Amino acid sequence: MIFHHSHTCILGALFLAAVCTAEIKLYYTVPSIVPLDATPLDSTPVGVSLEFFMWPSYMTNVTPSVSCMSRISEIYGKKTPIRIGGTTQDRATYDPYFDDYVFYRVADPLNAPDTLIYGPKFWDLIRFNRGDDNQTNTYLAVQEAKKRALDHLWAIELGNEPDGIEARIPPGWLQTTCHTNIRAVIVYIWAHKPDAVSPWNASQEGLDAANWAQGFIDVWKSPLPILTAGSYAVAYADNPEWPNTDYLIHTAYNNTVKAAVKYYSGHLYAAPPGNNTLAIEMNHAKTVSDLAVLGERASTAASINSSYILGETNFHPYDVDMDATFGAAIAALDKSMRAVTLGIQRLFFHQGTINQALFNWWSEAHINAPYYGGYFAALALAGGDHIIELDSGNSSHAQYVIYSHGCPIKAILVNTDYFSGSGVRSCSKITLNGLSAGSQVRTLRMTAASSDVTTNDPGIYPTIGGQHFSNVDCSSVGDLKYERGAVRGGQVTLTVAASEALLVYL
Ligand SMILES: *[C@@H]1O[C@H](CO)[C@@H](O)[C@H](O)[C@H]1NC(C)=O
Ligand SMILES: *[C@@H]1O[C@H](CO)[C@@H](O)[C@H](O)[C@H]1NC(C)=O
Ligand SMILES: *[C@@H]1O[C@H](CO)[C@@H](O)[C@H](O)[C@H]1NC(C)=O
Ligand SMILES: *[C@@H]1O[C@H](CO)[C@@H](O)[C@H](O)[C@H]1NC(C)=O
Ligand SMILES: *[C@@H]1O[C@H](CO)[C@@H](O)[C@H](O)[C@H]1NC(C)=O
Ligand SMILES: *[C@@H]1O[C@H](CO)[C@@H](O)[C@H](O)[C@H]1NC(C)=O
Repeated sequence: MIFHHSHTCILGALFLAAVCTAEIKLYYTVPSIVPLDATPLDSTPVGVSLEFFMWPSYMTNVTPSVSCMSRISEIYGKKTPIRIGGTTQDRATYDPYFDDYVFYRVADPLNAPDTLIYGPKFWDLIRFNRGDDNQTNTYLAVQEAKKRALDHLWAIELGNEPDGIEARIPPGWLQTTCHTNIRAVIVYIWAHKPDAVSPWNASQEGLDAANWAQGFIDVWKSPLPILTAGSYAVAYADNPEWPNTDYLIHTAYNNTVKAAVKYYSGHLYAAPPGNNTLAIEMNHAKTVSDLAVLGERASTAASINSSYILGETNFHPYDVDMDATFGAAIAALDKSMRAVTLGIQRLFFHQGTINQALFNWWSEAHINAPYYGGYFAALALAGGDHIIELDSGNSSHAQYVIYSHGCPIKAILVNTDYFSGSGVRSCSKITLNGLSAGSQVRTLRMTAASSDVTTNDPGIYPTIGGQHFSNVDCSSVGDLKYERGAVRGGQVTLTVAASEALLVYL
């Protein structure tokens, strides 16, 4: 292993002078032409989901939203995809005479509102619900959106997660979160206005979703297809009866409805961690296991020549401290790479209540650690048209290769091992062979002093190529440092420490 810098095995020297020990040696061949079974890539695979009631605030009061999304748009050379939705969308009523963006009242500012009103102005900034089971009201809003925002609408989803009653507090949850101050805990699951009646199941929800879709088609007329067919799937087998894409495609939807569907969509949060540590939750093997069922859904959608997206995703469904850490950034990166490799076209990382949801990529005037993972994923995937994964998905080391026009252009090596910040930092030495002629590769490292790093303490942050994001305008602060790895005989060996990722330009 040869680096230009005297980087060899002293990683994180800036912070702790921790010594890394190369415990693991891995060898992979990078196919020099794109394999036939490589997965096609979307040109803007990593996007953002904004909680419905917060959309106006995110776009008018919270500076980092616009600037941090612009940073990702710059990488793509296209607009970052945004999805507007979430639990509060199903509690909203459209009022064509209401002269503001959105109105709601909450007893405690940390709560998401139970009811809210939104008006036509909403579309100047932009969504639709099945809450209250009032199709007339929703279609009124749909028509207004068509009039005002059609050019900006990528797809329309009717309803968010029409559950609410079945959710239960997982054992151990209250104990593990008390010290987090119980922030916005109720936002995701405890919808007070479930569209479906408990017990919520595939046949009931499928029938309802098909009826709403048909009603929409009658009102909307064209252009079609435009619907996102949502089906909520969590990673844990809490409720096998919950509706899913396979049921919609094989049973609930007839050809008229299917023809109106542009994308099938699922939601994914890791199961509440219970006593699981960050070390377990950020591990590649966990990410692989969480995504497995969604990958199957993507295959079902592909079987009818349709696409599948993760319409809403992030780390955990309830706030846990680990969601704000650099470990969460590593998990977001790995989840993005793995998801697109499984054929999931796009992921929309959810931003919940401003300043409250711990997985948020930014707060008011503050960039949070998980954003680094999303940004790095966009950087790795941009410009690619295909991707393959080199590893078998059963260890903490993930390696992906991105292709463009048949040739490998980048590789991303993710070491998802946890590092506490003290003691010996383990690392892996990864040898890539099969590289084309050339004497060196350029690499960019995403790292932090530990997996637990958050951006809450001044002066502490993760870095990408030595840079961090400015809280003022999300710009990159500091000198951008590429590292270099020598290629000999078509082979390069690179070192990636626990909780680091390396983007390799091939
Ligand atoms: C449904 O929405 C329509 C249009 O906004 C409204 O006139 C009607 O009162 C609503 N129905 C119910 C039961 O709330
Ligand atoms: C699904 O739920 C509906 C409404 O509660 C019920 O009538 C039906 O029997 C359920 N179906 C299954 C397969 O459990
Ligand atoms: C397709 O399904 C919808 C929703 O169930 C129904 O309203 C519509 O009549 C069906 N169309 C045909 C052609 O059967
Ligand atoms: C967490 O650990 C405690 C103590 O060992 C145990 O009682 C509890 O059941 C565990 N909770 C979960 C969700 O595993
Ligand atoms: C999907 O597209 C392929 C290629 O165009 C075609 O052969 C196949 O019949 C289509 N399948 C469906 C279910 O539409
Ligand atoms: C992972 O899977 C690969 C391929 O099936 C196998 O060779 C390897 O031993 C497995 N590694 C672990 C740690 O289970």
